[in-house]
This record gives sequence, structure tokens and C-alpha cells, in this order.
Amino acid sequence: MPKITYVSCDGDERTVDVPVGTSVMRGAVFNYVDGIVAQCGGNMQCATCHVYVDGAALDKLEPREPGEDGMLDFTASPRRPNSRLSCQLKVTDAVDGLIVHIPERQN
Ligand code: FES
Repeated sequence: MPKITYVSCDGDERTVDVPVGTSVMRGAVFNYVDGIVAQCGGNMQCATCHVYVDGAALDKLEPREPGEDGMLDFTASPRRPNSRLSCQLKVTDAVDGLIVHIPERQN
């Protein structure tokens, strides 16, 4: 099962096993990782699942769909080039070792 590390804005790290076929957001919610609110439940309507993807892992992820790109304009913390909505990040074996940073604010 792929391992994903969630890093809080304070630098605290949690590494959890996340089943293939779910999302990076669900991996956080199911493991009680603080800082990923996911108010809309993964329907790409809230932008409260915003994360910053660490380094080279960006290439392992599917590119943003236009809808995700649009919602990223509504994040509470600043949008950066590595910003993604974690509900749109599918977990595959290729993302094993993924590190995501949680922004200071989600709403
Ligand atoms: Fe709402 Fe991701 S959970 S946009």
C-alpha cells in the first residue's frame, strides 16, 4: 500500500498507508490528519483540501483538470505552482512516498 507523508505548517510529519484507488484527501481524513478540511467531501467545490506537493513528485501525478485549476484560485492560503486539491490526487502505486505540505489555513 502506498505511503503518503503529510507535513503540517509547523513541520510535524505523519506517514500513513493509503489504499490504491482512493485519494490523498481521503488518506488524510481516514487517518485523522489535521489541516485537511475537505468540506465538500471531494466534489471539487470547496478548496479546503489544498496541499503543496513536494518536489519531484509533481511529475508522478496526473495533471490538473480545468475544474481543479479554477478552484485553486479560491484557496485560503496562497496558491503556488505546486498547489493541488488533494481530493483530486488519485492514489496509485506510482505515488508511493509522496510528500504533501498542508497550508496554514484552509478557510
Ligand atoms: Fe472540496 Fe477537495 S474536498 S475541493
